[in-house]
Amino acid sequence: MSNLSGKKAVITGGNSGIGYETAKLFKAKGAEVIITGRNSEKVQIAAEELGVKGLVTDQSDLKAIDLLVNEVKETFGKIDILFINAGVAAFAPFEMVTEEHLDNIMNINFKGAFFTLQKFTPILKEGASVINLSSLNAYSGMDNTVAYAASKAAMNSFTRTVAQELAPRKIRVNAVCPGPIETPIFSKMGIADADREAFATNAASKIPLKRFGKSEEVAGLVAFLASDEAAFITGSEYLIDGGLGLKTI
Ligand SMILES: NC(=O)c1ccc[n+]([C@@H]2O[C@H](COP(=O)([O-])OP(=O)(O)OC[C@H]3O[C@@H](n4cnc5c(N)ncnc54)[C@H](OP(=O)(O)O)[C@@H]3O)[C@@H](O)[C@H]2O)c1
Repeated sequence: MSNLSGKKAVITGGNSGIGYETAKLFKAKGAEVIITGRNSEKVQIAAEELGVKGLVTDQSDLKAIDLLVNEVKETFGKIDILFINAGVAAFAPFEMVTEEHLDNIMNINFKGAFFTLQKFTPILKEGASVINLSSLNAYSGMDNTVAYAASKAAMNSFTRTVAQELAPRKIRVNAVCPGPIETPIFSKMGIADADREAFATNAASKIPLKRFGKSEEVAGLVAFLASDEAAFITGSEYLIDGGLGLKTI
């Protein structure tokens, strides 16, 4: 078990799914945690459940990110861990993708993540760890994911470049790329329950380990990368996908 004792961490999108479970694990490992989310009621409920501070910030809103950084600075001063996890998924065939669909995904998943890291950089401690939550879709050509996959591929590219630029301050920047994980994200995509269940059954049958992953399993990997045990790891991308990325036919 890695030890995050005394570390100060910020998790975006911490009111649900992977972000929520990671906040729980970080806290259990001794970190002080701030979570963010876009919906004040959800953030408040999650923060109370977790026993952490919750701040409302829409990751696609650059002015809101400025306010977040100021509030974090007032509470924590500088931080040790930044987990950029907030994201959305929406599926559409390439020929049906609208400007609104593309903008929504890119503004939250890529532009929002990009400026979150840029604006937090002045308050990252020397030796801080940044983890970007990407996806297996960054590498795959799964039907109907063209906008989502591009947003995550952009995130991986940005991870590599920023890792080099922040290395002189010993700040590590890595990406975690999950395959299908059981979280509420699928129920937020506007897909009928029956279609979603058919998708999940079909997807699980193609995963070598024959199941979706759990948020707790992703949280474990994120907590390792956040810890000093990962002190020589930067600019890397970690698949956590039950072997799905091995499939070639
Ligand atoms: N689940 C998977 O299979 C899977 C696989 C690969 C990658 N991922 C990535 O994992 C990350 C976490 O997703 P999850 O599966 O844990 O889904 P989730 O339970 O829906 O959690 C996503 C979190 O991000 C928040 N969020 C969304 N848009 C935001 C915005 N504009 N500003 C601030 N917060 C925002 C959500 O808030 P609300 O509660 O208000 O929506 C929620 O707290 C995402 O980046 C996703 O792309 C998930």
